[in-house]
Amino acid sequence: MENKNLMKIEDNKNKRKRIAVFASGNGSNLQTLIEYTRLNDINGDILIVFSNNADAYALKRAEKNSIKTYCFSHRDFNSRKSFDIKILELMVENKIDLICLAGYMLLLSPEFIKEYQNRIINIHPSLLPSFKGVHGIKDAFDYGVKVTGVTVHFVDSKLDNGPIIIQKSVEILEDDTMETLEDKIHKTEHIIYPLAVEYFCKDLLEINGRKVSISERKKIEN
Ligand code: GRF
Repeated sequence: MENKNLMKIEDNKNKRKRIAVFASGNGSNLQTLIEYTRLNDINGDILIVFSNNADAYALKRAEKNSIKTYCFSHRDFNSRKSFDIKILELMVENKIDLICLAGYMLLLSPEFIKEYQNRIINIHPSLLPSFKGVHGIKDAFDYGVKVTGVTVHFVDSKLDNGPIIIQKSVEILEDDTMETLEDKIHKTEHIIYPLAVEYFCKDLLEINGRKVSISERKKIEN
């Protein structure tokens, strides 16, 4: 990216974390993160919500909770690069330490990810590396697997690929429909995403290649 000073991100260890959530849709994960960070002392606060979709209900949830929102679309920029620079400016201005993707339906550019390396996490509704992409729940259901689940992972430059922080399985029973499965998956997301964010904010995560260890598990998610 062009402006090196702008992209300088301070070392975020041993400090209270400033969190941004990126969401393009409903924002149920955002809601859970807001509630969890307010009810528990996780050493972090959600400062801003960014959306690329002006109709995202996630923006309303943020407003109802008095969280600053930003919304603009890459279509309003000359290039994808200038869109990314604008978002990076916002992150730096707001001194953001952690970016949580929660149903953010736009791929981040490799340059953006590099600037926030190991500080962007995502939730995906399958047990990665199975069923990557935007239809993780349906693809697992249609495939006929008996067990699927949810993954929270660091974001790298490949789709749904970065080091895995937490996974939790969800059984697909014979009488499950897409609706019941979606419901089970979302309930599971709302359990593990806040935990992953808490581990990050408390500096409990260590990344070694593809392996993420949680140095001191104060809570067990299973
Ligand atoms: C979730 O299923 C998440 O795993 C996926 O997008 C969906 C977002 O749901 N990445 P919501 O907007 O948080 O309700």
